[in-house]
Amino acid sequence: MIELQGLAKHYGSIVAVAGLNLQIKSGEIFGLLGPNGAGKTTTVRMLTMLTRPSSGRALINGYDVTRDLGKVKQAIGVVPQQMNLDQELTARENLELHGRLHKMPAKERQERINELLAYVELEERADDLVSKFSGGMKRRLMIARALMHRPRVLFLDEPTVGLDPQTRRKIWDLIRRMNSEGMTVLLTTHYIEEAEMLCHRVGIMDRGQLIALGTPGELKQKVGEVAVESFAGTETGYKLFSCREEALDYARKVTGNVLIRATNLEDVFIELTGRKVSD
Ligand SMILES: Nc1ncnc2c1ncn2[C@@H]1O[C@H](COP(=O)(O)OP(=O)(O)O)[C@@H](O)[C@H]1O
Ligand SMILES: [Mg+2]
Repeated sequence: MIELQGLAKHYGSIVAVAGLNLQIKSGEIFGLLGPNGAGKTTTVRMLTMLTRPSSGRALINGYDVTRDLGKVKQAIGVVPQQMNLDQELTARENLELHGRLHKMPAKERQERINELLAYVELEERADDLVSKFSGGMKRRLMIARALMHRPRVLFLDEPTVGLDPQTRRKIWDLIRRMNSEGMTVLLTTHYIEEAEMLCHRVGIMDRGQLIALGTPGELKQKVGEVAVESFAGTETGYKLFSCREEALDYARKVTGNVLIRATNLEDVFIELTGRKVSD
């Protein structure tokens, strides 16, 4: 469904994306997880035809993103990282504009706008200026706009950045609902929890490279499913184990306070890079 073959982007001497090979299946929620500067946005920008790859290829439903522009444009919806709604227009007018750009006939356009405003729960605010909207409402409207022309694949770049935890959960629910109705979703995030809670599979990116790929469960299993943190003085010790018994054995021998917990994708990232995602 989405296929990346050695996809790379260089800006002068900067290697933003260093040749990604990856297949994303139809019906998946796939997450690109990584710290700032890892190359997530650049990857999405290549897949959505906003920037040309320096080398390699990307196919969406078999269509090449550098050749079959019309077909790709029809197949995909894009929710960019930066808010790019027209704040001087109403919610309805923003959707209207997108429908016209996609040459949707007037009647279909109106029907789709009403359907989507209901879908993202903005019906009552349809005719208010976007400048009056909260961050969560703007994000929902950007999602509605991306869905106008009925794409089969949706790209969301950092869909919940800057939103409070409750609003973030609403966006997750919306993404899950779209996916359950058949949408393939590729999202980027630097939030561990978002990748873990929402994505069927995760690709961990660092410095332009894909350093791990799998379901959250598989990735955690690879590094060990139980973590032991020990606190003695100012030092925090940190070790991963494949089972609880081994972790307990180790914990008994440690002096000071000990915390035994399940590993998460942050542990996976640290194990692979020696750094935190948030660093
Ligand atoms: N237009 C550009 N010109 C020069 N460098 C860029 C440009 N866009 C991105 N980069 C660089 O590419 C790298 C990856 O950036 P980006 O894809 O935005 O990462 P992420 O989305 O994971 O935070 C960074 O080092 C960034 O500074
Ligand atoms: Mg980014």
